[in-house]
Amino acid sequence: MSDSREHIMVTGGAGFIGVNFVRRVLATRPTVSVVVLDALTYAGNGTSLEQLPADRLHFVHGDIRDQRLVDRLLREHEIRTLVHFAAESHVDRSIDGPDAFVATNIDGTHSLLKAAREYWLSGSGTPHRFHHVSTDEVYGSLGSEDPPFTERNQYQPNSPYSASKAGSDHLVRAYHHTFGLEVTTTNCSNNYGPYQFPEKLIPLMIVNILEGKPLPIYGDGMQVRDWLHVEDHCRAIEACLDRGVAGELYNIGGANERPNLEIVGKLCEMIDERVGASSDLASRFPDCPASKGSSSQSLVTYVTDRPGHDRRYAIDFSKAAADLEYQPQETFDSGFSGTVDWYLENEPWWRGVMDGSYRQWLDSNYASR
Ligand code: NAD
Ligand code: DAU
Repeated sequence: MSDSREHIMVTGGAGFIGVNFVRRVLATRPTVSVVVLDALTYAGNGTSLEQLPADRLHFVHGDIRDQRLVDRLLREHEIRTLVHFAAESHVDRSIDGPDAFVATNIDGTHSLLKAAREYWLSGSGTPHRFHHVSTDEVYGSLGSEDPPFTERNQYQPNSPYSASKAGSDHLVRAYHHTFGLEVTTTNCSNNYGPYQFPEKLIPLMIVNILEGKPLPIYGDGMQVRDWLHVEDHCRAIEACLDRGVAGELYNIGGANERPNLEIVGKLCEMIDERVGASSDLASRFPDCPASKGSSSQSLVTYVTDRPGHDRRYAIDFSKAAADLEYQPQETFDSGFSGTVDWYLENEPWWRGVMDGSYRQWLDSNYASR
């Protein structure tokens, strides 16, 4: 395929952050076409990519571990930039079954690196960029008084998920150091926003409030995360593609550290306000406490803590601020309110991704904690 367009490959482009990234790139960069490679696991959803310009989006249903497929796609589409989101991403699932995490996050990343090396570095070499999307969880857990994570913190992953991400980060680093592959890595904090599968804290709490289901709080609910709006994260990745230096890591945060209980309280308050003021919402969500004149806080249910639960993550993103000109634009209020509105307006999306067996699994999982 040879035309004047720049072709970017996005792995995991049907998942939460990948979808937001693809939408953003297609909207803001008219000369770019995107090839999405996604295995469509439970977390991937083709409908999230609907209504995007078909002439600039090529979707391939496939596995990043299929090195021959990746090799063919890189050549066929003359890819110079690969943004790697595909992963198993949920900590709870990594505790229930770590194997898939090692397979996708470590073997899968390695398969991409091998294909990229073969295509980009053989012969006289081609200008290229391999951008790896990683997590702050690789740095381990902070105490309440510890300074936020910088890029110089030691890796101390605590869950099978974060250990598998740390493994992939090391492979990416090694392919730069040993073979000269032009890589960048971003380690970001907890994302939230549109198209997030309702297993992560924020979308799970939103749909459970609307359906009048228990809101499971692990342990004492005082674990702290730094909440990053997905649009801010995608903007940071673009800035890293434009200005990042090969071989470097950049921490990306939202400047929005909050304990889980505060997050859940805020979501209850925002949904109660909206449902209380709208007879349409009250009739669409009859089981929501606010539809019956009570508070959604009544749904809060303390459950057994997650094994090995990290207490606090916090991000120092001063390197990204200085080198990439990155600053988050969403605040706690703007980001959360837009996200709640998105879930209220996109009920068919979340009902579609939460099929009956997932709802059943959720209910029995929390019942047994
Ligand atoms: P997600 O679980 O929503 O989506 C993952 C996507 O990868 C899905 O579309 C899935 O189908 C695809 N996928 C899984 N295995 C695959 C395979 N073997 N081959 C091809 N595709 C495969 O994840 P997300 O929340 O969008 O996270 C994206 C990336 O960002 C991940 O690497 C994750 O570790 C990282 N990250 C996420 C967060 C967060 O808060 N969500 C924070 C920090 C870092
Ligand atoms: O920090 C970045 C990481 O953030 C990403 O790398 C991961 O892919 C992403 O899943 C996320 O990990 P967390 O474990 O922090 O996110 P999760 O949404 O699962 O949980 C957020 C916090 O809320 C955590 O302290 C556990 C707690 N929690 C979560 C769920 C799903 C609850 O108390 N109850 C719940 O039902």
